[in-house]
Amino acid sequence: MLNPVHLPRIAVIVGSNRRDSINRKLAQALVRLGAGKFEASFARIDDLPMYNQDNEGNLPPAVVRFKSELARADGVLIVTPEHDRSIPAVLKNAIDWGARPWGKSSWTGKPAFITGTSPGAIGSALAQQHLRSVMTGLGMILLGGEAYVTFKPNLIDEHGAIGDDSTNKFLQDFVDRFAHLVTRLAPATVERSAA
Ligand SMILES: Cc1cc2nc3c(=O)[nH]c(=O)nc-3n(C[C@H](O)[C@H](O)[C@H](O)COP(=O)(O)O)c2cc1C
Repeated sequence: MLNPVHLPRIAVIVGSNRRDSINRKLAQALVRLGAGKFEASFARIDDLPMYNQDNEGNLPPAVVRFKSELARADGVLIVTPEHDRSIPAVLKNAIDWGARPWGKSSWTGKPAFITGTSPGAIGSALAQQHLRSVMTGLGMILLGGEAYVTFKPNLIDEHGAIGDDSTNKFLQDFVDRFAHLVTRLAPATVERSAA
């Protein structure tokens, strides 16, 4: 049995810069489902400058902040929309900064849970598939399974509670498995009790 000394830290990345982002709502709901299992903090990406290799020698302050937020995290939760059947540009930009400079990737070896939502029937599935391919290439350890969420207007209330029981149960299972994965891979944050 694992006896947490302090909870694992999760960096939450929302792949949208939209004010009323439905993916941010989903991310907030997932953080709520993870209460008591991990400590989540949102890592901002909408203020990162457009990636430019010329700036790698003197990283812009927002990039330094972003990479240090990732460095502190034991795991990463990425909740992304689908743009034109792929990864939104704002998220791909953040991924590129996180991956650089060469040899200083912020992603390698970290566990990640990738999910997302869209009003469309396939709930961001293609964006997630592309993202899984990119993040696997960058050496992340991805939580298994497919968490595609079709967004409906009353799915998540203003407190981040999921109204629909089956969706709630479906996502709770992912959150629980993610918390377990992160805890197993972050031995510095936990100690094993005798029980
Ligand atoms: C440029 C653009 C491309 C989009 N392409 C897709 C798409 O390929 N598949 C999809 O399901 N929805 C697509 N949508 C609709 C988004 O799912 C919808 O705008 C959603 O609210 C975006 O998530 P967000 O609110 O978290 O930003 C697109 C929206 C935009 C603005």
